[in-house]
Amino acid sequence: MKGVILAGGLASRLDPITRVTNKQLLPVYNKPMIFYPIEALVNAGITEILIVTSGFSAGDFLRLLGNGEALGVEHLSFTYQDGAGGIAEAISLARPFVGDDRMVVILGDNVIGGNIVEATRRFASQPRGAKVLLKEVENPRAYGVAELEGDRVVRFIEKPQDPPSNLAVTGIYFYDAQAFSLIEQLERSDRGELEVTDLNNAYLERGEMTHDVLEGYWADCGESIDHYLRACNLVAEHGANRTD
Ligand code: G1P
Repeated sequence: MKGVILAGGLASRLDPITRVTNKQLLPVYNKPMIFYPIEALVNAGITEILIVTSGFSAGDFLRLLGNGEALGVEHLSFTYQDGAGGIAEAISLARPFVGDDRMVVILGDNVIGGNIVEATRRFASQPRGAKVLLKEVENPRAYGVAELEGDRVVRFIEKPQDPPSNLAVTGIYFYDAQAFSLIEQLERSDRGELEVTDLNNAYLERGEMTHDVLEGYWADCGESIDHYLRACNLVAEHGANRTD
């Protein structure tokens, strides 16, 4: 299984602190933000990692991470997304790296208190398809949200005005290689992006999507300056990527 970390985006919600650097290079307590998704992957035994970045500071990721050895990465690759084409477009750039393998995609601004060891194991034992990790949140309007009937997810809705649940889709996604052909069939949304929520709905329609609820805290540092601060405080108080 390969790891793909998405570290692009304009991060306008954190302006002006992201005006001269990528969001994922900012500190979260005592480490650069991107260290946390890398650690989450390495903890789960995923040591072949591709970083998809964008923007003017892309070269700083190489300066910061080098060959990844210090963080336990065995094979670190980088690629570059031109423009703001969305999360699904960024995932499609991973095709030459992932090939026919499976992947765990983590948004580079997501920080978790627990780990993805069990979820990765469960996904690996799935015959095919995808898995998302859900988490209860207070402000579901800010995220992709799962609509459930009983235990079954029937639809994912991106940033709904009227959320059908308070279960957000976190930025941790598990896909098989079908993702690449499914992304080719997606149409751009009103904001001109290939939406990860549409990719997840495509898997759902095929009956090949599973979900788990993430244990421990989940922080999306890019959501707002207050969420960024919350993430720093959570890491300072509880640590991150705990395996105990
Ligand atoms: C993205 C996704 C959204 C997901 C969120 C998790 O939103 O579009 O479905 O819930 O990441 O971090 P963004 O943070 O890019 O607005």
